[in-house]
Amino acid sequence: MLDYEPEELRHLLDRAAALKAEKYSGSEVRRLEGRNVALIFEKTSTRTRAAFEVASFDQGAHVTYLDPSGSQMGHKESAADTGRVLGRMYDAIQYRGSKQTIVEELAAYAGVPVYNGLTNEWHPTQMLADFLTMDEHVAKPLHETAFAFVGDGRFNMGRSLLVMGALMGCDVRMVGPAAYAPPGDVIAIAEGIAAQTGARITITDDAIEGVRGADFVHTDVWVSMGEAKDVWLSRVEDLASFQVNAELMAATGETDAKFMHCLPAFHDANTTVGREIMEVTGMSDGLEVTHEVFESSASIVFDQAENRMHTIKALMVETLA
Ligand code: CP
Ligand code: NVA
Repeated sequence: MLDYEPEELRHLLDRAAALKAEKYSGSEVRRLEGRNVALIFEKTSTRTRAAFEVASFDQGAHVTYLDPSGSQMGHKESAADTGRVLGRMYDAIQYRGSKQTIVEELAAYAGVPVYNGLTNEWHPTQMLADFLTMDEHVAKPLHETAFAFVGDGRFNMGRSLLVMGALMGCDVRMVGPAAYAPPGDVIAIAEGIAAQTGARITITDDAIEGVRGADFVHTDVWVSMGEAKDVWLSRVEDLASFQVNAELMAATGETDAKFMHCLPAFHDANTTVGREIMEVTGMSDGLEVTHEVFESSASIVFDQAENRMHTIKALMVETLA
């Protein structure tokens, strides 16, 4: 996100809305015929992979999916060497993995656009989808919109929402225990941007105050991909009072407040991990979000998921067409 000016991000959102309308009306034009895109996934994915693939197919591009164990990268070949190889064959590369430095090394060597499909630190393509979705669901400009991120602000989603909210001039509330606040360097970046864009930034451990007046309440899983399974119990203990439930949604004071989540979400016991953690902790209504809120009319998580595809398409069209 920091590679773009706010106007460029706004343009990507507008382009995504136009491409979405084009697809819905059956008049989509193929702007990426003859292009080839490599999709490197060192972590698993449903939405991001599907979004890159469908967006590519819709626009006439071809993709190669390299799964978490299906390439030499990481164990036998560096990001620098992989970037130089793939850059000779592909017009763009998507990378999902662990450290941000890996995707930056790939980008430095590839000579073609490299898209960050999630690292431990950032999830920028998710931000395009989240802000398009907020734009669609609120009858005022983004710079007049308030949103809260509730939970673990130290990982990709919390950090990204803070910085993207600053870039788009929003009223941003980062809500969670003090030890789970985004790192100081990220807050400093966001505050620097906010001074230019007029964004308001609040970091608080007061859940009720933090969500007051919020048009949107976001959360994320309490344990992210790549983290050890044994952190679950301490996370639940630390974050249980920051669960997004009906009481917290009501605390916004906004009858139209919407719930957002990048997904996947632990809202019921219909997953192996969810079932195990819910059984051990007794949190049978859900973990970071209750089943009630997840399934309520306030929940716009599937609009958000769909918008991954339209926004990723916009990103590829803008950088490759
Ligand atoms: N939100 C998101 O990135 O989902 P996936 O992990 O399924 O790609
Ligand atoms: N914070 C989560 C986001 C998943 C899209 C993770 O990194 O697992």
